[in-house]
Amino acid sequence: MTIIGSNRFGLSEAESSANFEVFLPEFDGDQILDQDEEWCEVLVDGQRTRIRFHDYHRIYDIPGMYERLFYEMLECVSPRTVCDLLATALAEHAMKAEDLRVLDVGAGNGMVGEEIRTLGVDTVHGVDILEEAAAATRRDRPDVYDDYLVADLTDLTLEQRDVLVRAKFNTMTTVAALGFGDIPPEAFVGAFNLIETPGLLAFTIKDDFLRDDDPSGFSLLIRRMFAEKTIVAQAEKHYRHRLSVHGKPLEYIAFVVRKTGDVPTAWIR
Ligand SMILES: C[S@@+](CC[C@H](N)C(=O)[O-])C[C@H]1O[C@@H](n2cnc3c(N)ncnc32)[C@H](O)[C@@H]1O
Repeated sequence: MTIIGSNRFGLSEAESSANFEVFLPEFDGDQILDQDEEWCEVLVDGQRTRIRFHDYHRIYDIPGMYERLFYEMLECVSPRTVCDLLATALAEHAMKAEDLRVLDVGAGNGMVGEEIRTLGVDTVHGVDILEEAAAATRRDRPDVYDDYLVADLTDLTLEQRDVLVRAKFNTMTTVAALGFGDIPPEAFVGAFNLIETPGLLAFTIKDDFLRDDDPSGFSLLIRRMFAEKTIVAQAEKHYRHRLSVHGKPLEYIAFVVRKTGDVPTAWIR
């Protein structure tokens, strides 16, 4: 499959007409890749190479590839969906977007931050484990975040933690970043506990991660957070996050919840 460039995602003309093509694999028979095994091929400067979707650093390094692959070819709608839900929750609970101080966790190349800005939020910071994500944001969306920290949320240094605490965030967003070897439950909780109480959390998660038999740890954790009322539901939506490489829908749930307390670290041991 070949799709030509467009300028739909705030990239400059030069970036959006970048000289690359993305090809999705075609499979014989009933071979099905799990979501964390998906891959594509990219043709750059006459060189065709295979890239696993979860090798985000390689995708961010090619200007426009993340947008082309996930948003155009695979029709990802997660940033828009979670920000629409956040806007609905703000309106229903008489909260003002300009009062939010947002930490966007697993910020990637800034597509969620860009959506959050459209709500009228003044303060948005990003955090991501990859230097390539920060570099892509500087390259493609330099004005989206007030600050962007490159850090592993499972292993913050004292200095990094101090930077995040001093920012006094009252809202956390995390979109398409939980599970699958990305952000594990302990990093999710670590970031959540950096948010002030009362606060807001807007996040998306694959529906499988909330099932009884989920091995990721998210199902137990999120159920307990609801049961013990450290979070209280404000808005929720089941939706199609994107298509798989096989053209099948990948179902996610978006939540906006009110934070009413920290999560004890014992809950994730
Ligand atoms: C699928 S991308 C989503 C990016 C963005 N939220 C979006 O919706 O376009 C997941 C992001 O989570 C980041 N990530 C994975 N593990 C992380 C960790 N332990 N700490 C911080 N970021 C992490 C990855 O580097 C990647 O940029």
